[in-house]
Amino acid sequence: MNDKSSILAISGSLRSGSSNHHILKFLGGLTPADINYSIYDRLADIPPFDPGLDHESPPEAVSELRSFMKNAAGIVICTPEYAFGVPGQLKNMLDWMVSSSSLVDKPVALITASSVGTHAHAALLLTLGALSAKITNEATLLIPFIRSKIDADGNIVDTETERALRGVMKVFLGEIS
Ligand SMILES: Cc1cc2nc3c(=O)[nH]c(=O)nc-3n(C[C@H](O)[C@H](O)[C@H](O)COP(=O)(O)O)c2cc1C
Repeated sequence: MNDKSSILAISGSLRSGSSNHHILKFLGGLTPADINYSIYDRLADIPPFDPGLDHESPPEAVSELRSFMKNAAGIVICTPEYAFGVPGQLKNMLDWMVSSSSLVDKPVALITASSVGTHAHAALLLTLGALSAKITNEATLLIPFIRSKIDADGNIVDTETERALRGVMKVFLGEIS
């Protein structure tokens, strides 16, 4: 059953102090109090994708995440790009979500915050399309030069970036309401 009052946020970076994690925290602050906004913290526990284990009783962390996704009204993904591609741990997690149809028709806001990020952003749009996620152009955002737009405390210091993030969240919240 879909919980209309919950959003699951996923960072593609596992780094402590990650800019992407800070962005997800910022977006959580824009979320109305009656919506439960949670940042997923077990991406590192998702095992390498194995089609042989991809059945109704997958590894525990996969089963839990599938359940979180199915129950959430929408998903926010915020990620850097690594080596001109999607971070492996994020793509690996999405591969586990194909057969379960966890993202079918699910509103997804996609933010790629990286040094450049164009390749990962484009690749993720393709992957999320393959998963039949509901992607609205206005709920996607590519933020280049991210390290210059967030200070050491994780505050967004670039006015245009903050404005764009508020715009993405407004559209996304409209989609899940
Ligand atoms: C191994 C590695 C490879 C990277 N490759 C790219 C890249 O191809 N394109 C890019 O835009 N940024 C690249 N970056 C820079 C990241 O975008 C940047 O470190 C970003 O701040 C990481 O996100 P985070 O702050 O959320 O951890 C790379 C960083 C690392 C550590």
